[in-house]
Amino acid sequence: MRTLSGAWRRVAAGAGLLGADGTTAPTIFAEMSGLAARTGALNLGQGFPDEDGPAVILDAAREAIARGENQYPPGRGILDLRSAVSEHQRRFYGLSVDPDREVLVTAGATEALAAAILALVDGAEDEVVVFEPYYDAYAALAALAGARLVTVPLRWPDFQPDLDDLRAAVTDRTRLILVNDPHNPTGAVFTDDVRTELVRLAERHDAIIVTDEVYEHLVFDGRAHRPLATLPGAAERTLTVSSGGKTFSTTGWKIGWVTGPADLIDAVLAVKQFLTYVNGSPFQPAIAAGLRLDDRFFAGIAADLQRRRDLLLTGLQAAGFATAHAAGSYFTVAEAAPLGVVDAHAFCRELPERVGVVAIPLTAFVGPAHRAEYATLVRFAACKRDEVLVEAARRLALLR
Ligand SMILES: Cc1ncc(COP(=O)(O)O)c(C=O)c1O
Repeated sequence: MRTLSGAWRRVAAGAGLLGADGTTAPTIFAEMSGLAARTGALNLGQGFPDEDGPAVILDAAREAIARGENQYPPGRGILDLRSAVSEHQRRFYGLSVDPDREVLVTAGATEALAAAILALVDGAEDEVVVFEPYYDAYAALAALAGARLVTVPLRWPDFQPDLDDLRAAVTDRTRLILVNDPHNPTGAVFTDDVRTELVRLAERHDAIIVTDEVYEHLVFDGRAHRPLATLPGAAERTLTVSSGGKTFSTTGWKIGWVTGPADLIDAVLAVKQFLTYVNGSPFQPAIAAGLRLDDRFFAGIAADLQRRRDLLLTGLQAAGFATAHAAGSYFTVAEAAPLGVVDAHAFCRELPERVGVVAIPLTAFVGPAHRAEYATLVRFAACKRDEVLVEAARRLALLR
């Protein structure tokens, strides 16, 4: 076999996918979605909705194609979408962002995160602080940037960080604090105490906050999302990342954006323009239309997903799992130890054959050093049709 040099090895290792023999394993999502396809199991693994979003948004994309909006859009994104993002930040959060200088459209939240990390981190002297478990791209991208990943544990069952752990993790070496709120995979929504401490630490150590808020409209139990950038002192050092994928059930369109101070946005643009340059011309006006939908739409998607979370919770509890209470996001974490499970990865590998359901072990979101602490936890996605969740609950009950 050829030995290939290059950054891929660092990225694969950062994501925990580099085998001892030097080959790269598929991600757990590819493995489990492959199992779902092969066995016909219900896929509560990968976080994508199984229903289309609002017809007006889908129609807007078709109309944009018919109008001929099929060539490169401007590098920062079309003005209509940048304006819609700016209006959205003001309408929901009272934040003021200049559509010309403080908004950048990206190929999903993923590209915004990649460009921000690559732009602002410079090698092994720089540390990136993340909460663990983490969305898998964070560790991979920090590794690509050559930075050291410093993790703050989120522990079962409430998955709020301990403030002393947070204080110990953030130092003068911290370049970025990467936050995800609402949080994938745990469903946690951070408390105001956590948010305040994050901003205080960032100010004290002159770190930049990158906050991934792709689940901003999927917060439950009557709570409203509170972006980190709205906290006193935060806006000048915060890049806020979001995307249309989760809010409008268009995960395949990959229209994302990042907002923040003009100098930080310029730095992100310097990298982003050589990653994809631009993407998704006809989808940009469609997502702009989505962001301008009325309040009923936004309240409706949170209420819908809350109902589905409750269906999933009831099903998991009836099947004998202990459950965490997801306050937001697509996901709910279940403790499988009461079912006699000692290794959630092995359990998830068997689950499709045993009962026809796919789920993801939480160890997929944890670095090798800490996997033992999460060994029996499983992530289930609630962003599926009611009948799918009801049928999944019926099947999971067979585990008892
Ligand atoms: C926390 C988090 N950030 C980012 C993404 C990716 O967003 P996008 O599809 O807009 O790149 C996801 C998708 O699952 C996610 O869960």
